[in-house]
Amino acid sequence: MIRFTRVTKEFPRTGLALKEVSFHLARGEFTFLTGPSGAGKSTILKLIYLEEQPTAGEVKIAGASSVTIRNKDVPRVRRKMGVVFQDFRLLEDRTVEENIAFALEVTGVGHTTIQLKVARLLQLVGLSSKGPSLPRELSGGEQQRVAIARALANDPVLIVADEPTGNLDERATRGIFQLLKDINASGTTVLMATHDLELVRSTQYRTIELNHGQIVFDSRADVTPPDAGASV
Ligand SMILES: Nc1ncnc2c1ncn2[C@@H]1O[C@H](COP(=O)(O)OP(=O)(O)OP(=O)(O)O)[C@@H](O)[C@H]1O
Ligand SMILES: [Mg+2]
Repeated sequence: MIRFTRVTKEFPRTGLALKEVSFHLARGEFTFLTGPSGAGKSTILKLIYLEEQPTAGEVKIAGASSVTIRNKDVPRVRRKMGVVFQDFRLLEDRTVEENIAFALEVTGVGHTTIQLKVARLLQLVGLSSKGPSLPRELSGGEQQRVAIARALANDPVLIVADEPTGNLDERATRGIFQLLKDINASGTTVLMATHDLELVRSTQYRTIELNHGQIVFDSRADVTPPDAGASV
């Protein structure tokens, strides 16, 4: 699903954000990405979302390679992914329903299909009654669930979440984590960056820890060496 092969990312002023990072995530896996501030977590997620290009090495996502991909193919690959951010990033002047529908409209899906799908997604995240509300009328945890519903709109094979619980209290954190676990249990690969070591330690999921742009710990390194096979 995701393969990083000796990926280095250098930014013009700040220097090396990632240094020869290699790892492989199999389809269907749930993985935590941890490490201190500035370690390179968000940079990894941005490379996966094709928002940044590696300086050296190769990022492979669902069959596409950062080395060979053409600009015109980027939207097609992105549609296979759902992205969730710490600050939700909902459209403030649109209702909850409209926020989710928007992700579907850009793909040219018909009106009736959109309505049905939005209702189904709201039910999935437990917000069926909040469709007509504006984001500011919801709690942080509820807004994040809307963001997750939006990320799921195009039936992604992969969800990347960058500190999705970073702005939430403990109870809302557990709710969002449970939702991501359920999504993973239904077959979607999930990669979640988090500072929340308590959350990480409370589970058996694979954990990749970064420090200064390098992997310093991978709880599953022996199972998935970076050069194993060609299955991406
Ligand atoms: N667009 C950018 N331009 C220049 N430098 C950047 C850019 N994005 C990230 N960096 C640098 O790359 C390094 C890694 O940043 P990154 O955002 O990946 O860390 P992080 O692990 O997500 O940290 P945090 O936990 O604070 O979110 C930092 O030193 C940062 O300054
Ligand atoms: Mg970050």
